[in-house]
Amino acid sequence: MCGIVGITAEKPFSVKGELILALKKLEYRGYDSAGFATTEGVYDKEVGSIDVLESRINPKLKTTTGIAHTRWATHGGVTRVNAHPHFDSEKGLFIVHNGIIENYAQLKAQLEERGYKFITKTDTEVIVNYLHEKMKTMSPRQAILSFFKDAKGTYAVVFFRKGEKTLYAFKKDSPLCLGICDGEMILASDIYAFSHKTTRTVFFEDYELAEVTPNNYQFYNRSGKLDKKPVEIEWEREPVMKRRFKHFMLKEIYEQPVAAQRLIRSLRTTQSHRVKQISKMIKGAKRILFLACGTSYHASLIGAYLLSRLGYEAHAVIASEFENFSVIDNKTLVFAVSQSGETMDVISVLKDIKHYKPKIVAIVNYPYSTVHRMADNYIEIMAGQEICVAATKTFTNTLIAMYELARVLGNHISLDRIPAKIKEVISKNDLRVRKLAKKLSNNKDIFVLGHRISYPIAREVALKLKEISYIHAEGMMAGELKHGTIALVEPGVPVIGLIHETNRERMESALQEVEAHGADVYTIGNSSKQFELPKRLNEEEYSIAATIIGHLLSYYIARNNNLPIDKPRNLAKSVTVK
Ligand code: F6R
Repeated sequence: MCGIVGITAEKPFSVKGELILALKKLEYRGYDSAGFATTEGVYDKEVGSIDVLESRINPKLKTTTGIAHTRWATHGGVTRVNAHPHFDSEKGLFIVHNGIIENYAQLKAQLEERGYKFITKTDTEVIVNYLHEKMKTMSPRQAILSFFKDAKGTYAVVFFRKGEKTLYAFKKDSPLCLGICDGEMILASDIYAFSHKTTRTVFFEDYELAEVTPNNYQFYNRSGKLDKKPVEIEWEREPVMKRRFKHFMLKEIYEQPVAAQRLIRSLRTTQSHRVKQISKMIKGAKRILFLACGTSYHASLIGAYLLSRLGYEAHAVIASEFENFSVIDNKTLVFAVSQSGETMDVISVLKDIKHYKPKIVAIVNYPYSTVHRMADNYIEIMAGQEICVAATKTFTNTLIAMYELARVLGNHISLDRIPAKIKEVISKNDLRVRKLAKKLSNNKDIFVLGHRISYPIAREVALKLKEISYIHAEGMMAGELKHGTIALVEPGVPVIGLIHETNRERMESALQEVEAHGADVYTIGNSSKQFELPKRLNEEEYSIAATIIGHLLSYYIARNNNLPIDKPRNLAKSVTVK
């Protein structure tokens, strides 16, 4: 789960101004170390964020061809030597890689037998030495085709030979695309890396490779040459900046009224035909399964809740356990919910279930992502780029997409008031949340309880408390508490109850129980002492309001404790490994 970039251009470009700029746009994919190499053989790598590396690069350093990498460690600790690029012992071949080579130990042993020495603990060094050995007798293309046969695992790789302007790129499972500019080509893990320069893109499919020069590219697969034409990507060109906000997380919470409005408009215009087609697919399905991870799973629980209430058989299943906990056949409709569209757990299920021939609908924020391209139909949630690792505005927009589908299927939901209500929730509660955050900042455990629509929200709020504030939090069904977890409730433990008119009775009874055991009870609802919600929110509007307050709470707790909010430890935005 890393970000890779390769640029080759007719004219020399600034390493800092071009290569590192493109890499920075992928930093959300991993940020524990970074590095670059140029065709002249100049390279550097360092532990820490890309800023650390960037501060050491001479602003005058130029090249025509270079590669760069931002890492999220999987094989080998976070050290300078394990950072990419990697190279052979003569430093003639430089390589960056995203993914995991599962049989690297076996390949490494074979290479060691033939005299190769390894200086890192990474699986990537196996790729570079493998290609190096093959290229003694083969062309780079033949060496890559041989790698396709011998390697097991996931990979997107870009490499060059010192002194040459050609970049070689190939992939299986991990994402890779090519941006085409005038006199310049950019290879990258995703389109954001070059969205400031071009909209013309070619996507790699599995087992494809490309030879890329500044003015040309040629794709191949295992059968021979491919004629791949670029597609035009429509994507916002606005630069992504924090503006007046201290962190991207806060900015992304505050921009939700605009993001929500943008999606609602598109669901009624450019995306309305797809919404209708998808609602037909729902009506024709025997069962509906939502497939997702993390925050997207919480949104999926709401999708399953809405469809179940409309009388459809619908379940949400976490991707890594999908096949163990669901029945799939060709009458099943699978919603693959993934804001990045690149989550490997989701992609690998989509591949594994292909032979059952289910229909697939993607709900994604990234158009042209792998999940989108694997689906029969899709909804784009149009939240704009989300930089903070924690999902906020993409969660809200995923809910809005689900609400629109439920509306078309007969649920009496109106989306019209949502943007204004979000605005009101934020403006009325920001200060109130800060106050509660101060009180809760030193707690070790927090419990969040919900029922009906607020159960998934309780899980979502708890996830953010763990992820951003590093507080152990449990988000659960209010009714399940008494079946065990209540044993952990002791005097002074904070319990947050998510109360809406539709769940009041059950919620209040659970909260009375924990109060009786000495818990400090806080509520998000109309009679809350801590927060002020707009009057008469329906269930769906409430779910968004409660989420925003919960997200703000985890944000301000983290801020009080000086935590790295946009890039929490051990995490990356796009989890492209299993
Ligand atoms: C939490 C978070 C993650 C993601 C999960 C799935 O704030 O962002 O739990 O929701 O990794 O990511 P996508 O939606 O890209 O598949």
